[in-house]
Amino acid sequence: MSECSDSYDQCRATADWLLANAQVRPTLGIVCGSGLGGLAEMIKDQQVFKYRDIPNFPQSTVHGHTGQLVFGTLKGKPCVCMQGRFHLYEGYPVQKITLPIRVFKLMGVETLILTNAAGGLNQDYKVGDVMIMKDHINMPGFAGTNPLAGPNDDRFGVRFPCMSDAYDRELRQLAHDVAGELGYSDFMKEGVYCVLGGPSYETIAECRMLQSLGADAVGMSTVHEVIVARHAGIRCFALSLISNRAVMDYDSQEKANHEEVLETSRLRAKQMEKLVSTMVARLEHN
Ligand code: 6GU
Repeated sequence: MSECSDSYDQCRATADWLLANAQVRPTLGIVCGSGLGGLAEMIKDQQVFKYRDIPNFPQSTVHGHTGQLVFGTLKGKPCVCMQGRFHLYEGYPVQKITLPIRVFKLMGVETLILTNAAGGLNQDYKVGDVMIMKDHINMPGFAGTNPLAGPNDDRFGVRFPCMSDAYDRELRQLAHDVAGELGYSDFMKEGVYCVLGGPSYETIAECRMLQSLGADAVGMSTVHEVIVARHAGIRCFALSLISNRAVMDYDSQEKANHEEVLETSRLRAKQMEKLVSTMVARLEHN
């Protein structure tokens, strides 16, 4: 459990190192999903820190994830952006995956925006749809893989944090409003994201099971970060780009693959960036 018990000091040391080197004091945090790192390029007055140069930081190992923290301003708001995130399937303990979120908290982040690419389970969803996350199912959590497992550090939050308000209602409403104004309503959805450990994609039986449990999309990220952020009182907003449809039927010839995920990201990335940056321009508390 040393991973847990010394984590406050570890996070503090990393936050202090970053604060000593960065010009801005970020109140907004952003985590970019697979192929969706372009949002970071909209950040002005950038200061970039490679993960390998940041004390205690894990390294990104996945194609499509760059592996750097970008500080600067987005629509005038001081922000920090993870261009590339960490996943369970890379072999990191879940506490390590979420360390950057605690570092964000200690640097002053109050609002967190996350993106991911996900497989569509809901039959009404099409490739290229963008799903506002309304809720999640933490499947690894059912088996004890929760980033908050281990001794609780009250300096971050309470032992038993509420998760029924994980995805901020006001931010979801703002997303719908902005999407409407931008003419994006046709491809906007709102639904439940289920996280699995990966890296293998789901079997047909698994997809059917998840669908019957009420999941609209399936992926391998975001939920761990949101749990740690909510524990620390950070408000969260997340978008899933439906990059492929989960295979549901034994007659189908479709096969999930990472190339398709990255290709769909390229098609919709600019619009997702526009949606998020327009939302950020309207954030009141930041
Ligand atoms: Cl189909 N499944 C999972 N687990 N993650 C994904 C995905 C599917 N598509 C993108 N990410």
